[in-house]
Amino acid sequence: MSIYKLGDKEIMLDKEKTQDIFEIIHNRRSLRKFTDQPISDEVIATLLKAGVRAPFAFQSYSIVYTRDPEKMKIKCGVYPTTKLLMIFFIDANRIEKIIHQRGYQYDYDDGYFIWLAIQDVTLAAENIILAAEALGLGSVLLGSAPSQVELISKLFNVPKRVFPVVGLCLGYPNPEALFDIRPRFPLEHVAFEDKYKDLTEKEVKECMKAMDEGYITQGYYIKQNAKIPLKKEIGEDKIDYDKYSWSEHISRKISQGRWDKKTLLTLLSENGFNL
Ligand SMILES: Cc1cc2nc3c(=O)[nH]c(=O)nc-3n(C[C@H](O)[C@H](O)[C@H](O)COP(=O)(O)O)c2cc1C
Repeated sequence: MSIYKLGDKEIMLDKEKTQDIFEIIHNRRSLRKFTDQPISDEVIATLLKAGVRAPFAFQSYSIVYTRDPEKMKIKCGVYPTTKLLMIFFIDANRIEKIIHQRGYQYDYDDGYFIWLAIQDVTLAAENIILAAEALGLGSVLLGSAPSQVELISKLFNVPKRVFPVVGLCLGYPNPEALFDIRPRFPLEHVAFEDKYKDLTEKEVKECMKAMDEGYITQGYYIKQNAKIPLKKEIGEDKIDYDKYSWSEHISRKISQGRWDKKTLLTLLSENGFNL
């Protein structure tokens, strides 16, 4: 048992869980529907404590979390039954205060800072995701946090040089809405010993087959009603849901332009990063 400070509260942490790490990793899948069960301070403290044990470059991240349904109404796809929302930020603000305390001024390529900070964020987030699984919770990441930077910063009182990277919805899994375990590319086409393998056409097809067959069999896009419409200039959409696959989805996503009113670089610049 150890004591941890969460805001102005002192939390007693339960003894560490000892579930098999491989079981947790291999059974994890994103969950998007949760029960009404609230998440206790003790569980949150356990998750956060696991998060900050991740490796880091500069500890250049902050996490803001809320259990307030009103505050979850930001437009970045928070699932309605979410019980706890965490938003992960890259944070140049705190580390600059530290170097100022030592009498130094920041002089560093902000591109590189962001690069490292995103890795700090991601590693902490993954620790939290796996710790949540170990405690019987489920989660799903939300990638559209950056485009909601204005709203998020206002709502959570976030200063300049602190920028949202990703959100995480958490809750106890609704057993009637358990998602399947999603397929992955064949390992031999992802990880290579001694020499990078530039995939042949046949090997690319094997990657697509593993993903497409898996997603179609699981009815992933039908269940989520998640087909991306084809732009008119590209042509008529002749692919029904029974053939709408992962590689089709990703192709549509990446080939049809993502040009928000403001690019990510503009948003970062507006929030004090020098790019
Ligand atoms: C950076 C990132 C952003 C994501 N954003 C979303 C999102 O906005 N909404 C969502 O439902 N899932 C989101 N996901 C979850 C992915 O869809 C999911 O991880 C992927 O389909 C693989 O499924 P699995 O996690 O169940 O293995 C995101 C995942 C990552 C890594």
